[in-house]
Amino acid sequence: MKQIIIAIDGFSSTGKSTVAKQLAKHLGYIYVDSGAMYRAVTWFAMQNHFIKSDCFHIQDLISSLYQITISFKFNEALGFAEVYLNGKNIERQIRTLEVSSFVSQVAEISEVREMLVKQQQKMGESRGIVMDGRDIGTVVFPDAELKLFMTASAETRAVRRYEELISRSEDVSFSDVLKNVQERDYIDSHREDSPLIKAEDAIEIDNSCLSLEEQFNKILQLVENKLKECN
Ligand code: CDP
Repeated sequence: MKQIIIAIDGFSSTGKSTVAKQLAKHLGYIYVDSGAMYRAVTWFAMQNHFIKSDCFHIQDLISSLYQITISFKFNEALGFAEVYLNGKNIERQIRTLEVSSFVSQVAEISEVREMLVKQQQKMGESRGIVMDGRDIGTVVFPDAELKLFMTASAETRAVRRYEELISRSEDVSFSDVLKNVQERDYIDSHREDSPLIKAEDAIEIDNSCLSLEEQFNKILQLVENKLKECN
């Protein structure tokens, strides 16, 4: 059976990665969280003091990009691939609100995007991949067979992200999480290079009022229809 590329884009905390993981597992496809790659570069910049609360040394980061190797390794117990930076597992470190507060500034840098997009395109060379992010259907895989664009209200998304961070024992306030979700939405959709926009041929899914099961079933139906069409 011909394998396809499923591109899932959308605003922050819209549950893209949850459904992408479910689909990849169901189909036996690779799942790639492209946001984790931008988060890994951000973590690298923080570790090297290129980013501090009051300044960001963009040129220093750009000239150090060659030192960055990002890889994914499947974790059997968790059921998904964790992200590694230069051989070190940084899955936990990249999910903090601190990394979230800088990542959209890093993702605006064209040199960073160019490096990561190349790597993402390579991962999809044999198709059979579900990738989520902001520019997957528009820039990374404009020829993806199925493109989804996920939305939900900012409050709904902030509640989801707040609960996720609290469950990992992060000391955060709801208002800071909501502010971060709104700021990232703004930067991601207004940047010059590859802004977050819905691809013309993407199907929009507002999941504000959908349970995880309803969402999965709805999307699986779309995938099955597409697979029938392609085979
Ligand atoms: O999971 P969440 O919705 O919080 O975001 P993410 O997917 O982890 O992505 C983190 C950030 O990386 C986004 O806010 C974007 O600034 C950036 N990003 C991007 O620019 N392009 C992508 N393909 C994926 C993420």
